[in-house]
Amino acid sequence: MTVVLNTPKDFKVWRWGKHGSIGFVPTMGALHEGHAALLKQAYEDNDFVVLSIFVNPTQFNDPNDLEKYPKTWEADLALAKANGVDAVFFPKYFDMYPDNYRFKVSENSFSNVLDGAHRPGHFDGVLSVVMKLFNIVSPTRAYFGEKDYQQLTLIKDMAESFFMNLEVIPVPTVRESDGLAMSSRNQRLTAEQRALAPAIYKAITQAKSAEEAAAQLTAQGFKVDYVTDMGNRRFVAAKIGEVRLIDNVEI
Ligand code: PAF
Repeated sequence: MTVVLNTPKDFKVWRWGKHGSIGFVPTMGALHEGHAALLKQAYEDNDFVVLSIFVNPTQFNDPNDLEKYPKTWEADLALAKANGVDAVFFPKYFDMYPDNYRFKVSENSFSNVLDGAHRPGHFDGVLSVVMKLFNIVSPTRAYFGEKDYQQLTLIKDMAESFFMNLEVIPVPTVRESDGLAMSSRNQRLTAEQRALAPAIYKAITQAKSAEEAAAQLTAQGFKVDYVTDMGNRRFVAAKIGEVRLIDNVEI
């Protein structure tokens, strides 16, 4: 049975009754196969699986992006049930931000490059809400997709820095058969934009350099925020029309 809990207090009451490991998958809803892969891993590794669905306003630097973020509650709940989720935590803004974002978590190095350089305040919002969710859920393990590699790295580092009692588990990116990384934002693409979108994966895997990949995407009509090689990965963020997509691969 899957229970739905709406407030931190109700969630904690449920949590106190559970003895055994908790696998936690934090999301903003509009669930897809990428989220299902996180839930499957959590189910395999733990006694209980918790999913949270909260479209976190503090991580959206663009109000239009927040407003257009897809909301698919019925389908999300069905996917949760199909993947053996024990509890869905589904709070509202003031449940999560009783202080109206007076306090926040910030990082002053890796969060300023790549996506951070193009989305001011984004990672403060992500880290703050994830810290809150970790404190409410008290998971044994928390699962994050490698598609958001910068986010995953920052959350892993935050958990270590604050001596948090949990393990952050990375899960490989799930792709459509044409290579496009699964993302809730893909739902916003028109048929024409969807046909063009796999060019992102093709460019970052096939181009000889980041510059060449950026040039290929620009020539095809993308507005490229960045293609950057860092460590052993190549990162990209590019817009098709109004929809901003990100991806990364090992190089
Ligand atoms: O990756 C996401 O969906 C969000 O950034 C997260 C981790 C749920 C925080 O709001």
